Amino acid sequence: MTEHAAHQHEHHEHQPTNDAGAGPLDDAGPGLSGHADPEGGQGIRDAAALWDERYRSKAQIWSGKPNPQLVREAGGLRPGHALDLGCGEGADAIWLAQHGWTVTAVDVSAVALERAHGHEKAALARESVHAAEGAIASRIQWQQADLEEWHPEGSYDLVTSQFLHSQELAWQGPLRAAAAAVKPGGTLLVVGHHPDRLPPWGGAHTHHNMFYTADDLVRELELDSPGWQLEVQTSRERPVTGPEGQQATIADVVVRASRLP
Ligand SMILES: C[S@@+](CC[C@H](N)C(=O)[O-])C[C@H]1O[C@@H](n2cnc3c(N)ncnc32)[C@H](O)[C@@H]1O
Repeated sequence: MTEHAAHQHEHHEHQPTNDAGAGPLDDAGPGLSGHADPEGGQGIRDAAALWDERYRSKAQIWSGKPNPQLVREAGGLRPGHALDLGCGEGADAIWLAQHGWTVTAVDVSAVALERAHGHEKAALARESVHAAEGAIASRIQWQQADLEEWHPEGSYDLVTSQFLHSQELAWQGPLRAAAAAVKPGGTLLVVGHHPDRLPPWGGAHTHHNMFYTADDLVRELELDSPGWQLEVQTSRERPVTGPEGQQATIADVVVRASRLP
């Protein structure tokens, strides 16, 4: 059954993922002001360099907690192989691995991935202390790739993409590739910032084409076609705290669909 509750009100126990950093957006990401090439050229630097620079600007950008919509939507799924596109500092991939998934986690930023790997090692060390049978092996493959060009090779029981918003990346191509990589019987979960409910801080507002509504996603990914069962198509409000401690309510777009066997 499709959940069609636009702007359903919700408050989560979790700190919103983006609270730790510059707020949910400033998620416009790098390139907002058209950074010049560091080598002195006039061109725009590539996505990897821009996102690396953003990650380097702070010891931690995101909260280190899994995104609340991932926890809600994937918590009841039977674990298998998951693909996390735009995994950032890795909290979602680590949460999935802790819940029995093997995960391929992809991001363009080597800085973010190195950080994510470090968080994973720390989590594994903590878990291993409590494990009866010694060290726990990694279940995550961290992969650096530009989703502008990279396409998943295999197919997955879960493909998730959370807040894949970047001025340098049109969301349509990567999210279509994400949908194509879902196994028969598997699940696609896409979460993003609702374009009309962005936080009042950050520079994202002038870049609305980075964002999508649930209807945009369903239309672009053709999730209302016979091959899919559309399970969630909604937006959910949640409170967030900005970089200066400001409070706001934003909305997460959430689309979950399973590919029919
Ligand atoms: C807003 S962050 C979201 C990170 C993470 N999913 C989360 O919710 O905390 C967007 C992520 O997309 C990544 N990204 C941006 N452009 C990309 C591209 N072309 N290919 C792969 N990843 C990209 C960035 O490095 C960043 O980690």
